[in-house]
Amino acid sequence: MQNTAVQNTAVQNTAAQSTYPSASSSPWSGRLVGPLGGTVVGLVGARGGAGATTLAALLAAALAQHTATVLVDLVGGAGLDVTLGLEAVPGPRWPDLTGAGDVAGDQLLAALPRWGRVALVSTDRARPGLPPPDDVLDRLGEAAGTVLLDLPPCDVLARRAPVGRCDLVVVVAGRDITSVGGAVALRTALGPAAARTGLMASDARRGTLSLAELEQAAGLPLLGRVPYDRSLVQSAERGLLRARRATARIPATLARTVLGLQ
Ligand SMILES: Nc1ncnc2c1ncn2[C@@H]1O[C@H](COP(=O)(O)OP(=O)(O)OP(=O)(O)O)[C@@H](O)[C@H]1O
Ligand SMILES: [Mg+2]
Repeated sequence: MQNTAVQNTAVQNTAAQSTYPSASSSPWSGRLVGPLGGTVVGLVGARGGAGATTLAALLAAALAQHTATVLVDLVGGAGLDVTLGLEAVPGPRWPDLTGAGDVAGDQLLAALPRWGRVALVSTDRARPGLPPPDDVLDRLGEAAGTVLLDLPPCDVLARRAPVGRCDLVVVVAGRDITSVGGAVALRTALGPAAARTGLMASDARRGTLSLAELEQAAGLPLLGRVPYDRSLVQSAERGLLRARRATARIPATLARTVLGLQ
């Protein structure tokens, strides 16, 4: 290992020794039964700009080929509707969903704006903030096959993100030392959910660590790697988010792992 800082950050990889699926193994069968019917996957970046939101969207699109899928923005800021080019599409955003826990899940799902086949619960840049999400997440989980949560790292670190309801947490990390440190911090803050957490390496920021170094230092089992994809950058700026075919195969593989949890 070349980077002594990585060595210093390396921790005992207890999660990797569990029955968790790696990219090369069969889907994990040791699922804890969560509070929801649908499979819930949380994605969180180990550092800013790691590619977590992009992977969440690509994974949602892959899952939506198989089952009703909803992508939930728990981050705020621009809002996922802007990121996905849906800002002009009507439909409820988080501020409209106060009290929506009383609405049947299938009705709620049907009312949401769509990105292709993916239903979207976005924040609203004009009305920042979101109501307590638990009731809405409960209803969506009853109606959707998969629920993807774009999680804010700060909430995970503060132990107030809904990671307890996740069947799988995906930490998206660059191949750099800042991502390693971030992943270690997230793994620690995830508590029991760390045993249901895997790592996706993303080359969005073009780091130089090997995948083995990243996996060992982060102390989380590697699920796969998203290569650098210039068409993702260019299309994202136009609100389209189109991956090259080779890149799209990665979330498709991850989707099969998620579907194996059902
Ligand atoms: N595989 C990739 N190849 C090249 N660029 C990428 C890739 N994935 C994401 N990007 C680009 O990197 C930038 C950050 O991506 P993204 O917003 O998905 O990261 P994030 O981890 O969600 O960031 P944030 O910390 O802002 O939440 C965006 O400009 C996006 O288009
Ligand atoms: Mg993001």
